[in-house]
Amino acid sequence: MGRWNPWVLSGMVGLLAASATPAVAQGSAPTFSKDIAPIFQSKCQACHQPESIAPMSLITYQQARPWARSIKDRVARRQMPPWHIDQSVGVQKFKNDMSLSDAQIDTIVKWVDAGAPQGDPKDLPPAKPLVTTNEWQGVMDGYGPPDMVIKSSEYKMPAVGQDVWYRPMTDIPLTEPRWVRMVEIRPTNLKARKIVHHSIAYLLLNGDTDAVNTGTATFGLNPSTAREDLVNRRPQLMEWAIGKGYDRFADGTGKLMVPGQQISWDQHLHAVGEEINGGSEIGLWFYPKGQEPKKRSYLIGFTGLREREFLDIPPNSVAYTEGFTVLKENTMITNFQPHFHLRGKAMKVEAIKPDGAREIVSYVGNFNFNWMTNYIYDEDASPIYPKGTIIQVSAWYDNTTANKDNPDPEQWVGYGDRTVDEMAHAWMNVVYYTDAEMKEILDARKAKAAARTSDRDRQ
Ligand code: HEC
Repeated sequence: MGRWNPWVLSGMVGLLAASATPAVAQGSAPTFSKDIAPIFQSKCQACHQPESIAPMSLITYQQARPWARSIKDRVARRQMPPWHIDQSVGVQKFKNDMSLSDAQIDTIVKWVDAGAPQGDPKDLPPAKPLVTTNEWQGVMDGYGPPDMVIKSSEYKMPAVGQDVWYRPMTDIPLTEPRWVRMVEIRPTNLKARKIVHHSIAYLLLNGDTDAVNTGTATFGLNPSTAREDLVNRRPQLMEWAIGKGYDRFADGTGKLMVPGQQISWDQHLHAVGEEINGGSEIGLWFYPKGQEPKKRSYLIGFTGLREREFLDIPPNSVAYTEGFTVLKENTMITNFQPHFHLRGKAMKVEAIKPDGAREIVSYVGNFNFNWMTNYIYDEDASPIYPKGTIIQVSAWYDNTTANKDNPDPEQWVGYGDRTVDEMAHAWMNVVYYTDAEMKEILDARKAKAAARTSDRDRQ
């Protein structure tokens, strides 16, 4: 391998002599100051800074250098940043994409292979401000303070201990129905930012008012079980993970909240060597009264199982299941969040259209239980399917020792709510449209695409 380039010597040799595989920096090799620091600023430091969740800071050269080999490994395998969606199939434009480009990965790999040279500190970009207050991102971006803040109780996380999944419930002090325009979750204090890995706020529906409010006709539910389904469904208000700001729903769509609902929290806490008290709070920005949106966005857990009993994973094996859901309305899908427990390995969502054509919507090939990443589709990239389309969710499970999250490959695993049981579904927010509305959306997209093409031709 052409790693050695003995005729170009740099001032780095002294420092590198101490590392396991000394390499000599090439004159043209990327340097930390010039090439790597800008990438770390934009793609790593939200988490890799002192007041955040990652195990080490990646701000200065001195901090980053000892991790060079590990950085190369994680980055080349697309494990870091934690953005695990397959980049060769399905929807590829996202609102919250934190991944590295191929060119950025290439630069990082070349940098490490050249011995991770520092370069000239004069080339460093201006330092990015670190997180020092617990302000809402929405406030910083000019949306003003939230109209309502709902706070979970706090958990006293010991200095050392197993990860905790903290699931308190909180009442929502609403006295009348309101439409939510924007949501943001944040840890309850600055210190808590170190221990809260992710936090999900589920909306615990009120069976009476919600059933009345949504009706059953357009909900795609079996009318006889609709009420129960609504209550069990626990639509997600928001999923938050470090580095994420707010969710602002597409114009004209929102989440309807009614009195009597509660928030059911699901918070993944991680011990960091000091005792910290922390939880989460959610800020809600409402649509002004009189400007209610026309469309409600629903969160559906598209199943990866034909029947729950079909989930039967023998010890030391890799298993597969699939589930099918027929869309009863024209449906736009606006995000994908694969959900498994510890044995989850991969999930693929496909659409089988009424004419039989198949299309991959999204695929995650290396699911990682620690990272409940939510892939939010770009507005124009959100696929829209006619009624009668079948959504197929294919799910793979790894109950072998190859899965490092597997607590016990000797166990027989079936369906259940405990983390050691298994389940599989694709959480996706959907919006339903009439034929005329769907046509309008598709025509507008075509017109936009045509405008882009003619722009390109003119250049
Ligand atoms: C969303 C937060 C987040 C982002 C963004 C992120 N990391 Fe991480 N990183 C973590 C956390 C948390 C861990 C420890 C848990 C784990 O390994 O998954 C980690 C672990 C790592 C490790 C392994 C450390 C070890 O113990 O060996 C490396 C290397 C790493 N990150 C590099 C990077 C680089 C390089 C980037 C940017 C290109 C990046 N990370 C972006 C949160 C993040």
